[in-house]
Amino acid sequence: MTRPRRQLGLASRLLVAIGIVLATAAATAGAVVAVVGPAVFHDHLHRAGVADHELADLHVEEAFRSSSAVAFALALVAAAIASAVVSIVLTRRIGGSLSAVSTAATSLGDGHYDVRVPAPGLGAEFDQLAESFNRLADRLEDAQRLRGRLLADLAHEVRTPVATITGYLEAIEDGVQPLDATTTAVLREQGDRLTRLAHDLAALTHAEAGDVVLDTAPVPPGEIVEAALHAARERAAARGVDLTGSAAPGLPEVLADRHRIAQVLDNLLTNALRHTPTGGAVLVRATRADRQQVSLVVSDTGEGIGAEDLAHVFDRFYRAGTARDRASGGSGIGLAISKALVEAHGGTISASSAGPGQGATFTVTLPTA
Ligand SMILES: Nc1ncnc2c1ncn2[C@@H]1O[C@H](COP(=O)(O)OP(=O)(O)OP(=O)(O)O)[C@@H](O)[C@H]1O
Ligand SMILES: [Mg+2]
Repeated sequence: MTRPRRQLGLASRLLVAIGIVLATAAATAGAVVAVVGPAVFHDHLHRAGVADHELADLHVEEAFRSSSAVAFALALVAAAIASAVVSIVLTRRIGGSLSAVSTAATSLGDGHYDVRVPAPGLGAEFDQLAESFNRLADRLEDAQRLRGRLLADLAHEVRTPVATITGYLEAIEDGVQPLDATTTAVLREQGDRLTRLAHDLAALTHAEAGDVVLDTAPVPPGEIVEAALHAARERAAARGVDLTGSAAPGLPEVLADRHRIAQVLDNLLTNALRHTPTGGAVLVRATRADRQQVSLVVSDTGEGIGAEDLAHVFDRFYRAGTARDRASGGSGIGLAISKALVEAHGGTISASSAGPGQGATFTVTLPTA
């Protein structure tokens, strides 16, 4: 069995590095003192008129050699002490900040998502390491919070129809509720709701995993608007909402998968109709965004969206304000699916509203063909 080789610590590595620098400096200085120095010194003495082989000459050279050697030895000792001190201080500071990061990383790995490290103040690189670590921890904490909320919302979504179905079945078994057309309609409606939820979740998972296969082709924006109006006309009439649409003249074709974009507009129109009371209006428009993009805009005169909700309406399972407490209605997935689908097209989707009661506007941009 091979034993893992013990790794050198930071302090030892630093000492070895400084040792190499010192040895190099010592060898160079030693060579200068022993070889180059005496020759230069001798030459200068000669030029100053001190003759060769005189006793004074020998003494002066000896004095040069020994004083150089003493100075050299002292410098070497001082440098060695200074290097040891510098290595220890640096190692303590660097090692301290590194072990703070590694302790924090272990703690993060153990599920403590609120752990953060302070900037060590040891230069840009270390501050950046701490900042990157903290950003990573922020993201993980957000993801964890979202996951918790998703599971809670999902449980809530499933619980309501399942409780209704179970309640009805018990009532039928006890003979309290007749198994008539009304009862089957309720059971079917709750079953459909569960099926829709399962379907939406699967669609969302696919769309967000980026594995939607788009069958794109150039499509005139006017046709997209027309198809969306056609699909929603009856629902709008039943609700007493005025539904109209228009496409600016001379718009270029967009590169889109007709069915997917129809699905996106249907989500937007279903929302607009759901949140607009009788007597209100819903408008679908196609306009030019810029040279390379066309906008599809769905606006309504309904409930509107508060500023704090606006930032979250594209989050999975997010339902704003009153929609959150409602037993009926959607599960808060439609806009998340729409966003993933639009982004798969290389487009964008955004929401705006002047506030509650002021209506809402959703804008999809798609690249032109
Ligand atoms: N036109 C709108 N007016 C006001 N609020 C809106 C509008 N469109 C969306 N919202 C808000 O955004 C939330 C999220 O919309 P989304 O379409 O994702 O979910 P949903 O309609 O509640 O459910 P689902 O679409 O899954 O059936 C809605 O619950 C609602 O609160
Ligand atoms: Mg919806």
